[in-house]
Amino acid sequence: MLKLTVVSTPKTVQDQELWGKTAIAVDVLRATSTIVAAFEAGCSECYPANTLEEARAMRRTLGEGTLLGGERHGLPPDDFDLGNSPREYTKARLNGRLLVFVTTNGTLAIRRTGRSRHGLVASLANARAVALEAMRLRRDIVVICAGTQDRFSLEDTIGAGAIVDSLLKQGQKLALTDLATAASDLFTQHANKLPELLRRSVHGQTLIRLGFEADLARCAQLNVSEVVPVYYGTSIRPQLP
Ligand code: MLT
Repeated sequence: MLKLTVVSTPKTVQDQELWGKTAIAVDVLRATSTIVAAFEAGCSECYPANTLEEARAMRRTLGEGTLLGGERHGLPPDDFDLGNSPREYTKARLNGRLLVFVTTNGTLAIRRTGRSRHGLVASLANARAVALEAMRLRRDIVVICAGTQDRFSLEDTIGAGAIVDSLLKQGQKLALTDLATAASDLFTQHANKLPELLRRSVHGQTLIRLGFEADLARCAQLNVSEVVPVYYGTSIRPQLP
């Protein structure tokens, strides 16, 4: 039996709780959804940064041709090539390119997975694919929800629930923590109305105010990608089945 823990924000998990495990970062709105979109569009490697300055320095090191993407307050900084909308991450822009990526909450969650044995990146789009990979790895699992400004978020909890759901449907026996059980129940109850749930979330409301309503429908798409992004400590690369 695998133990599956869900934590509501990166700050609510200690490094020791990640050691030797598979950690999965989830930021449905929108960072991990956008990373999956980037790999679907042919991005070769993504470097998650903690701060804008670190992201700019990484781009300088990686050189011309490296794209800089991400957001502060939902919008791309002036000198960035791309924001944090998955709809911007098209083949025409991303194919074969390196990407440096920084967001307020999502990239911090991804970096925390670096303390585990295996770090994976999940959204609703690739929840099942990531769950299957986590099952194959046969280690206890910690799902790190990015949350919003260090607080619980509905959309990431639903994303965690989608992973639990896929594992259970595969017949995987799981010992769930209480938040994992709550996430699983929330997902089961809302699986056929995910866009509506994302619209009701606090960050969903913020994105609608900023003019990104179409991103909510995109980020609500379930199991439409087989891409499994793996964080290797410095960069994320896609592992295709
Ligand atoms: C984040 O990492 O905080 C989010 O992805 C923000 C956003 O939706 O732009």
